This record gives sequence, structure tokens and C-alpha cells, in this order.
Amino acid sequence: MKLATVLHSLGLTGSVLDFSKTIISVDTYIAKETPVAKSRLLANIGPDGDKSHGALAGIVIASPSTKNPDYLYTWTRDSALVFKLLIEDFVSGDDPSLRGLIDAYISVEATIQQTPNPSGPAGKGGLGEPKFNIDGSAFTDPWGRPQRDGPALRATAMMQYAEWLLKTGNSSYVKRSLWPIIQLDLDYVATSWRQPTFDLWEEINSESFFTAVVQHRSLREGSSLAVKLQQHAESLKYNAQADGVLCFMQSFWNPDRAYMRANTGGGRSGLDSNTVLASIHTFDPSAGCDTATFQPCSDRALSNLKKYVDSFRRVYALNKGVRTPDPVATGRYPEDVYFGGNPWYLATLAVAEQLYDALLTWHTLRAITVTPISQHFFTQFAPGISPGTYRADSNSTSSTYSHLSAAIRAHADGFLAVVARHTPPDGGLAEQFDKASGAPASAVDLTWSYAAALTAFRARKGGSSGAWGAKGLDVVC
Ligand code: NOJ
Ligand code: NOJ
Repeated sequence: MKLATVLHSLGLTGSVLDFSKTIISVDTYIAKETPVAKSRLLANIGPDGDKSHGALAGIVIASPSTKNPDYLYTWTRDSALVFKLLIEDFVSGDDPSLRGLIDAYISVEATIQQTPNPSGPAGKGGLGEPKFNIDGSAFTDPWGRPQRDGPALRATAMMQYAEWLLKTGNSSYVKRSLWPIIQLDLDYVATSWRQPTFDLWEEINSESFFTAVVQHRSLREGSSLAVKLQQHAESLKYNAQADGVLCFMQSFWNPDRAYMRANTGGGRSGLDSNTVLASIHTFDPSAGCDTATFQPCSDRALSNLKKYVDSFRRVYALNKGVRTPDPVATGRYPEDVYFGGNPWYLATLAVAEQLYDALLTWHTLRAITVTPISQHFFTQFAPGISPGTYRADSNSTSSTYSHLSAAIRAHADGFLAVVARHTPPDGGLAEQFDKASGAPASAVDLTWSYAAALTAFRARKGGSSGAWGAKGLDVVC
């Protein structure tokens, strides 16, 4: 019997049918792309990676591309996001072979922390330096510096490993070797989060939402790790600063337009994947749909996501004729002109990931709440829906909850399908894909693109990097 007939006989009609078609092709894509992404990501890590010759052990190159653009450098941000994923793979038991590489990352980053550079002295202001040469030496040409998200992301990655080491009885190594490295980054964050920073796209020197949220997360994690290491004064200090950052984060919300502004400067709309990345990289599955920490299923984050996605409907020829709410290719921000301004793989993947994260939390809560802020997001899937809480009902597959979760999962899959459609046959993921032809553009084999694919795929299976302390926080201003 044909699938269509089976579904029809089950009383499942039109849109559900499209949903299942999407699932089939997305499943195939994920099965094929997962091993490619993992091996090409590892190929970009020194000293043995196939594409990273000359890189020190543990150094992540951003991409092997040496011209137009030249990305054969190591960025603290990209490296930390990549190792965050690898460390999670290791501590979850999925890939025990990664331990040597993780230790190499820690030791090379400890050296980089002590390398004087144009952002400032070793172990102090120099921690905000965004990128280094792949032999670990300082990069001294002009650049958008400092970028204050790097130390926070690096601390978060290393703390995940530290927590695992503590659980497995390695506390002396954590205390003596790892904590001092982490502490340098946390102290940098604690003392400098109020100061201006270049944003993650290295363009605007102001204050930036992504930077603030990853700083906030690192300080909360630092506070709780410090307690375990009997560093009570440190713990209080990090927590007090985290309260300040959490308050500051709220100021990015634009209540009139119902989205999160990415930066305080820059003179743009402020719609930016900065904020979507902020939500997925601070997802805490135990925090419910908390608004203050901008959880993926919070009303603000859902409203923001829709505004962000819709801003790309008119800017790329590729999206022409795709009407709301159907999934489209998305980029860094609609005004982007870098390489002509194209969709990015990691940006489109982040949209899917936020939605899968939201689905995971709703599933845990057994309920979806619609508020006046998120109503326009939900209306896309349930015209006329009103604010309220819609509970999962085990006796019914026709409840509003079931309808919404199926439709939103199909929606998320649609963004993966866009990425799948523009992935070349060998599975390589560049930085961007052309806004008209869909062909890969800018840096080839962008390490961060592979990491973004792998975390989105994990989220689709209901996986996450776990709780970090977002639950039950009060905004104290
Ligand atoms: C401008 C780009 O938008 C930015 O992201 C990039 O890092 C710099 N140029 C340097 O290539
Ligand atoms: C440019 C991106 O804008 C930035 O976020 C990234 O760190 C570098 N390329 C390296 O991938």
C-alpha cells in the first residue's frame, strides 16, 4: 500500500502528508551527512587532521581556505563551539576516542591564553583576542578586537569536561590544572562584561546579545563549579556578576517589534542570527520556557525567530515565492553584504535547532503555552489560536498540542531540508551558499558549519548539552 493511502486511512490528511515526506528525506540526509560532518570536522584539527597541516595539536582551523577568504587561522569562538560539541560527545560516552584531542585542546588554549597579543597582556586583556596563527603565535594585523565571547565559550566547553572529571574521580587534576585555566577566562568575563566588544561577526564594536548570554552562562557554570572546588568567594563573585549580566540581557528586547536586538550599535534592524545562536547555545532543558534566559520555547525567542526568518524572505532570490510560514534559507542578518550577502549553513541550521530544542521542552512539560507575544508565531500553524496553555492529552492525537508539535517539527525539518538541498553531493559544508544559485560560497569546509549540523541533528533526536543552571533565576536589576 502506498504511504499516502496508509495515512489517508488513518485519517491523516494534506499537511501531515507533506510532513512525512519531509521526514523521509531529512532522515536520509542526516544518515548520510553525520559521518561526513564528523570526519571533516576532525580533519580541521591539528596536528593530524588531513586539512590542518601545520596546526599545533588541539588547534582548530576555521577552514582550510587560504584565500578569498583566508581562514587558515584559529578563532577562539569557533574552536570553543567545536570542542563544546566534542567534549559532549566524549562525556556522554558516544565517542571515547576523543580524550587525547580534548587534552590537546586544553593545553594549547592554555598556551594561547599566555600569548601576548594586540588585545592586551597575557592572561588578562589579551584573552579577548579573537584569532591566532595556527602555530599558536599572535596575529598582529588590524582586526575587530577584542571579541569578548571567546573566553566565555572556552570556559563553558572546559567546564563540561571538568564536571565529568569530578564525577569520575579526577578532582586533583581539575583543581590543580584545569581550574586555573578556566578561572582566567571567568575572571576576564566577570571583570569586563560591561565593556564594549566586537560582535561575533567581527563587525560592530558595541554591546552584543550573543556575547552577553554566553558570558552569563559561563558565570553561572563557574559559580557552581567553584562551589564543588570549595572556592566559595569565587562562586559568590561569579554569581553576583551573572546577576548583572542577566539584567543587562533584558535591555536588548524591543517590545514594540517583539524581537531581540542583536547589538546596541551598528545602525541595522537588529534582526540577526546572533540571537538565535544565543538561544540554542544557552538552551537548558530543565529551565522550561523561561523568558529571562531566552529559552528556545520562550515567547520572546519564538517571536524573535519568526521575525528573523521572515526578514530573509525577500532578500535572497533563492527564497522567492516561498510564502510564510514555509522554511527558507537564512543568513547572519538581512543587511549582510559579506561575499555579497548570502545564506549561511550554520544560520539555517540554528533555526531548526531552536525549534527542536523547543519541542524537547514542550514534550517534557507536556504542554505548549501561547502568550500574546508568541501568538503570531503559533498562528502560522494554527490560524486563530488564542493565548493559553495547550496540554498533551494521551488519549488524543487530534489535540491542539499534537497538532502544534507535529506542525512545528515539520517546520524545523523544513529548514534542514533547505540545508540538505544546498549541500553538494560529497557532503561538504562551506560557510555560505549562494543567494541565487544555492551553490556553496565563501570558505570551504567551515569547521563551525559541521559542528552546527551535528548539534542540530542531535537536537532533532531530542538530545541536548544538558542543564547549566538557567532554572529559576530571578532578574535582579
Ligand atoms: C567581514 C565579515 O563580515 C566578518 O565576519 C569577517 O570576519 C571579516 N570581514 C574578516 O574577514
Ligand atoms: C567570520 C565569522 O563572521 C566569524 O564569526 C567567524 O569566527 C570567522 N569567520 C571564522 O569562521
